[in-house]
Amino acid sequence: MRLIFLGAPGAGKGTQAKRVSEKYNIPQVSTGDILRAALNEGIELGLKAKSFMESGELVPDSVIIDLIKKRLQKSDCEKGFLLDGFPRSLPQAEALESLLYELDNPLDSVVSIDVSEEKIVGRLTNRRLCRKCGADYNFATNPPPENMICTICGGEIYQRSDDKEETILNRLNVYANETIPLISFYKEKGILKSVDGMSEPDAVFDSIVAILEEKNK
Ligand code: AP5
Ligand code: MG
Ligand code: ZN
Repeated sequence: MRLIFLGAPGAGKGTQAKRVSEKYNIPQVSTGDILRAALNEGIELGLKAKSFMESGELVPDSVIIDLIKKRLQKSDCEKGFLLDGFPRSLPQAEALESLLYELDNPLDSVVSIDVSEEKIVGRLTNRRLCRKCGADYNFATNPPPENMICTICGGEIYQRSDDKEETILNRLNVYANETIPLISFYKEKGILKSVDGMSEPDAVFDSIVAILEEKNK
């Protein structure tokens, strides 16, 4: 199963990708997570990405395409993969097309998770994460403990530097300008499926599974 999750920042791509990748036993490939890990480790990729990520701009296509080429050629992707946060621009989508053509592995489905902008700002300003295990806390749905120490692993709970309101608004702008064109790109290929991402995570998960199973019949 080769899937893409499309959606605005805070649409729930990561939340749903984690569950779907467990259900179908395919790796979740999040370019955002890979870049943040590189930034933490202080390696070159992270240094290249830092200023773009902090301002909510896209990291240059050449950097991202190079990263994804290497990632998709790892053996765990042979049985399929779920791309979370990639592609995000037409050049990235076109590069993915030729890469998958070379590997003789076409995409099965592109799932667009649709959520209103108002809801997104609320979700993202309330989000906090564990620095060590990545656990997701949210003041609206699953508040972190007062001491901001992760209840799962004891790590420090922090706020992503791009989850400030001003940066969120820029990320939404970038999404509208650079990523929304991918909706018609995949619609034309006949593989786009849209789900309502406004309800509870469990309900969104059920809609995604229903759509994927329908496709595989
Ligand atoms: P990335 O890390 O991909 O961030 P993003 O796309 O902005 O999206 P988020 O991870 O913030 O949101 P999400 O949709 O995963 O939502 P989540 O499930 O976490 O990218 C960060 C940066 O890296 C980019 O700005 C760019 O600079 C760079 N980058 C990455 N990929 C790139 C690429 N391909 N090209 C160029 N640059 C790239 O949910 C958010 C919150 O809402 C959570 O707290 C969650 O608990 C809550 N929530 C989720 N679902 C629900 C629900 N149904 N109901 C209530 N709350 C919910
Ligand atoms: Mg994410
Ligand atoms: Zn933790």
